[in-house]
Amino acid sequence: MNVLVLHGPNLNLLGHREPDIYGSQTLEEIDVEIVQLAKQLGAQVSSFQSNHEGQLIDRLHQAMQDGTNGVLINPGGLTHTSVALRDAISALSIPVIEVHLSNVHARESFRQQSFISPVATGVVCGLGKDGYLLALRAILAKLN
Ligand code: DQA
Repeated sequence: MNVLVLHGPNLNLLGHREPDIYGSQTLEEIDVEIVQLAKQLGAQVSSFQSNHEGQLIDRLHQAMQDGTNGVLINPGGLTHTSVALRDAISALSIPVIEVHLSNVHARESFRQQSFISPVATGVVCGLGKDGYLLALRAILAKLN
């Protein structure tokens, strides 16, 4: 199984950005853990981070044709603003799990709306980097 892990805007700053909220691990460290777990579970992971909405959408379009079986996405701030990203996810016929490091429901009111959740297969939030690992197990269980 091939799983695409997409990281949205500002997630390249993990480890430095508001560590009290997002933790002290860098994105590279988190990606290594995701890849290690994927190997244990017999899956392949491809990871992509962008600060640009269009690049994330293009990568989702690519996933329609490159043998991707499922997607984990942390859309960052685009979660709360992007109809275009939501439409790209709606266009996919494979499972997509939305992941947030922080518990967006316990934060500012503007973070409590997600344009993505209604079109996601599932949502994990508030569990830090473990959320990606749990979402990976869940998407593989769904696919197998
Ligand atoms: C986030 C939550 C978003 O509200 C925020 O804009 C982010 C990170 C999270 O992982 O908790 O960039 O998606």
